[in-house]
Amino acid sequence: MSTTSVRDVARHAGVSVGTVSNVLNRPDRVSPDAVDRVQRAIEELGYVRNDAARQLRAGRSTTIGLVVLDVSNPFFAEVARGAQEEAAAHGFTVLLGSSDEDAERELSYLDLFEKQRVHGVLISPNGDVDERLRRLRSRGTPAVLVDRRSEDGSLSSVAVDDVAGGRLAVEHLLESGRRRIAFVGGPAGVRQVADRLLGARAAADGVDGAGLEVLETASLTVLEGRRAGEEIAARPAEDRPDAVFAANDLVAVGLLQALVMQRSLRVPRDIALIGYDDIDFASTAVVPLSSIRQPSRLIGETAVQLLLGEAGDPGKPPQDVVFQPELVVRASSA
Ligand code: RIB
Repeated sequence: MSTTSVRDVARHAGVSVGTVSNVLNRPDRVSPDAVDRVQRAIEELGYVRNDAARQLRAGRSTTIGLVVLDVSNPFFAEVARGAQEEAAAHGFTVLLGSSDEDAERELSYLDLFEKQRVHGVLISPNGDVDERLRRLRSRGTPAVLVDRRSEDGSLSSVAVDDVAGGRLAVEHLLESGRRRIAFVGGPAGVRQVADRLLGARAAADGVDGAGLEVLETASLTVLEGRRAGEEIAARPAEDRPDAVFAANDLVAVGLLQALVMQRSLRVPRDIALIGYDDIDFASTAVVPLSSIRQPSRLIGETAVQLLLGEAGDPGKPPQDVVFQPELVVRASSA
């Protein structure tokens, strides 16, 4: 790490420390010759500006901490991209961490971001971090929940109505004549899974003769979807569902792989399939996947807007932004 100071650069360039500071921050106020000498000295000495110290002196940071559940899930990658673009438009940088559904790692990111004095924290929580976030806020670091609504309204949040999303998915399958429906996803304790299942049940309960079976998975991954698909494909025809609603697109992609591998099965002829998120893989799957679309980039952008609003006016009451999910019908359930 460079230990060269501004003073070393000034001495090397034969100018004052103030001139070096002006070249770094207000180059329009410095003669071209002085700019050239300072920039050459920076190159030759390998000087690197200490932004963290500068931001601390200025009493504010230009970084925003973002913790997502699983950065390998394209949904969260899109949320992060939306957050990054909105942050950059306001002169901020996003520091991204992935808890990978590990509560300890999640808390260590929150501690790190607080020590870094970030401008604020955005988090798609794995565990119940509301109390930790309220403490963060009380010490001057605003926090916004992403993809999760605040239990008691004490924190701003931005999410999609997952109960409505689950209902939309199963209503679509019912309208296409399916009646033996399976919900595949888990763990059941994950709030997004529980809400989607709630909506799915509500839709199935509304139609005579419709049944909803739940196959809980250990996580929302392609591998777990594949395992569930192999289990379904191995059943005798009369025991198989005629439609599956996967709790997210990664699970749906895994299910599709397993069902397609079973040569005797056809999607959607034998089993219709719908996922959730509408990630890019959904539309390009071997049988294009129907999905419940979440406005993932907009979620990221909105989270940054809520955070900057709160940072600018700490007395501002928390805001709950809820987007509506959208049904996207493709070949897997048409
Ligand atoms: O984190 C699991 C799921 O919840 C993601 O696939 C996305 O749907 C989020 O809402």
